[in-house]
Amino acid sequence: MSKDTLTITDNRTGKEYEIPVWEGTIRAMDLRQIKAGEDDFGLMSYDPAFTNTASTKSAITLVDGDKGILRYRGYPIEQLAENCTYLEVAYLILYGELPNKAQAEQWVYDITHHTIIHENIKNFMQHFRYDAHPMGMFIATVAALSTFYPEANQIADENVRTIQIQRLIAKVPTIAAFSYRHSQGLPFAYPDNDLSYPGNFLNMMFRMTELKYEPDPVLERALDVLFILHADHEQNCSTNAMRGIGSSQVDPYSAMSGAAAALYGPLHGGANEAVLRMLNQIGDAKNIPAFVEKVKKGEGRLMGFGHRVYKNYDPRARIIKQVAEDVFKVTGRNPMLDVAMELERIALEDDYFIERKLYPNVDFYSGIIYQAMRLPTSFFPVMFAIPRTVGWLAQWQEMLGDSEQKIARPRQVYLGEGERQFVPMNKRK
Ligand code: CMC
Repeated sequence: MSKDTLTITDNRTGKEYEIPVWEGTIRAMDLRQIKAGEDDFGLMSYDPAFTNTASTKSAITLVDGDKGILRYRGYPIEQLAENCTYLEVAYLILYGELPNKAQAEQWVYDITHHTIIHENIKNFMQHFRYDAHPMGMFIATVAALSTFYPEANQIADENVRTIQIQRLIAKVPTIAAFSYRHSQGLPFAYPDNDLSYPGNFLNMMFRMTELKYEPDPVLERALDVLFILHADHEQNCSTNAMRGIGSSQVDPYSAMSGAAAALYGPLHGGANEAVLRMLNQIGDAKNIPAFVEKVKKGEGRLMGFGHRVYKNYDPRARIIKQVAEDVFKVTGRNPMLDVAMELERIALEDDYFIERKLYPNVDFYSGIIYQAMRLPTSFFPVMFAIPRTVGWLAQWQEMLGDSEQKIARPRQVYLGEGERQFVPMNKRK
């Protein structure tokens, strides 16, 4: 008769242990009872980079990497991208259900009425160097918000949490757009509450002297879809940072600034920037075979390819290809798309990439769209951070409500020196 347990024989002692199996996992703490002797601390699992360790239970996002499936709260990403606005999806991710009409109206109202940032925050942003990286400005400014909302550290109070969540979702497009305007030497454009979430973002980015900015509806919708695709992705590097930092019970602004810092790296949200740099370096489709050979020799990576979880086509990349076609009808075709598509074709036929199950991920095509929208390459990671804000916050709230979560504190396998005696400086070699 089958049992939901695992039997372990410790060959060091000959002892046998029976450990419960739950949802395809064993609890690492159940290993602690396995000891080689009286003084033994007990068995631990060693898993650098968490490649086979579930750090939490979660009911928010499902990624099935083998099948190429992504669902938020059970809804397939394709259906949400087709039918919803980003703010509807943000509500779903936070609260678990799609909003009804009244809930949606209240939610949009609440977010729209928190878009302005304090003038001192604006002044703070004006003191960055003229060529500061927008993601550096974004990270620092999100952290600085905690000094404006000191009550935010009352994380056990649901009402206080709710207001910080609304503020963050509302203010990240403003901070992002201001970082762009600063790097361009342009005056800041204030939010326009008559516009949608993506429409207002376009307004704050691109408004010049016109009295009323009217976003192009195709670009507005394309941006909304891109935001939906980036809203959450379960326990990725930045979300893990959000949970890890948040587990110390710090305020959400400080925790989210750490999450955004994790996103900045080229192996995570910085990959969209790296893809464009790579495509520019390749320059022309005729240079692709030589570039691919270099990657196969280990001289660099094919940026925008591969994923820790997806071992199949990233469903977000498929939707993004369609968004790209829509955007190019307005902006004109980005010539880099041809290089990217040829690179994808060659890579997907190559044994190196087939054997390693390396497919295009969300970052492979997103940068090409942002470039067509006239965004500078350095701004691409910020475009990822805006929509991911809701994912970070939902995961943070879920962690706070999980009675099993404590301050995150991994173990280590110490391989350093044993105890040694102090040597005065004049006797050191
Ligand atoms: N180009 C060439 N080879 C690769 C790539 C790539 N992009 N990605 C993985 N490999 C190879 C890697 O060299 C290794 O080969 P071998 O077994 O011969 O040593 C094998 O594939 C497995 O790679 P890994 O580094 O063990 O895989 P990982 O799960 O640790 O890394 C990844 C995942 C996303 C960091 C990695 O695929 C990568 O560096 N990709 C490029 C950066 C990128 O596009 N990042 C965006 C990820 S999606 C959006 C997001 O979550 O931010």
